Amino acid sequence: MAAERKSPHPVRLGTVQETLLIPLYGRAVESRKAEAVLRDPVAEEMVAAIDYDFSRFDGGSSLIGAVLRTHLFDHWVRGFLADHPDATVVEIGTGLNTRHERADNGRAHWFELDLPDVIEVRRTFFADTPRRTMLAASVLDDGWTAAPLATDGPYLLAAEAVLPYLPEEDARRAFDLLGERFPGALLAFDTTGPGMVDTQDGHDALSKVEARLRWNCPDPGVLEDWRQGNRLLASHTFTTLPAEVHDGLPAEYRDMIATMAEMRLPQVEDYRLNLLRLG
Ligand SMILES: C[S@@+](CC[C@H](N)C(=O)[O-])C[C@H]1O[C@@H](n2cnc3c(N)ncnc32)[C@H](O)[C@@H]1O
Repeated sequence: MAAERKSPHPVRLGTVQETLLIPLYGRAVESRKAEAVLRDPVAEEMVAAIDYDFSRFDGGSSLIGAVLRTHLFDHWVRGFLADHPDATVVEIGTGLNTRHERADNGRAHWFELDLPDVIEVRRTFFADTPRRTMLAASVLDDGWTAAPLATDGPYLLAAEAVLPYLPEEDARRAFDLLGERFPGALLAFDTTGPGMVDTQDGHDALSKVEARLRWNCPDPGVLEDWRQGNRLLASHTFTTLPAEVHDGLPAEYRDMIATMAEMRLPQVEDYRLNLLRLG
């Protein structure tokens, strides 16, 4: 964290923006475990610095879900940068994610996009560098793509826990814009189906915030119909993670996943982590 931080400060975030605090807290809690999926000392520092009652998110499985999701997205980004070390990664709805800290290779360019109030908070913890640029805009705005497009591709776009909060017509607009501006790019994103959308008022973390999931997408295969040339390269649930990710998890997590797989919970089976090649 290059920028100066003030000690405990309140965050003033819009409704959907507040949801960034769930995965942030998940990574901080995870980082303190003896056997952890990932280490994130920067998330620990941010949670300590932000004046917010994070304890409301304790006790459920959502924090672990957020950690597993970000771990898979990290895996995709690392694989992409291994193949294309000078490429460009665009974090869409970056929140206070720290993927750059975890996965940067010292060569790639990174753009971190979120709504203006989020970027204002983010700038109290991080600073732009010649290879890392924050962008304050909605993914639906036209103008933000100019900066990443002025750097070299290929591009990987990571929209982690962002698009399900949009109404479907806005999700479609986002896919249209991304496909038009970044044809051939990889897009990592998640989708939720009715098992999650219809039960969210009882969800252990979402029930503690006002934001609600809007885009109900039981089959991410439909994305291939949304734009000619779109190809869904991978689609995983937490119970069908790629072997190279699953097998590297601490034993406790592998056991938990095996139990979840037996239970076939709709909210788990309907939640998918996807990798799309934009047409
Ligand atoms: C659940 S948080 C996820 C944050 C981050 N991706 C992570 O995994 O830690 C959802 C994020 O999406 C952002 N977001 C929601 N709508 C957006 C939009 N139209 N354009 C850009 N970002 C948006 C929110 O501000 C918030 O930071």
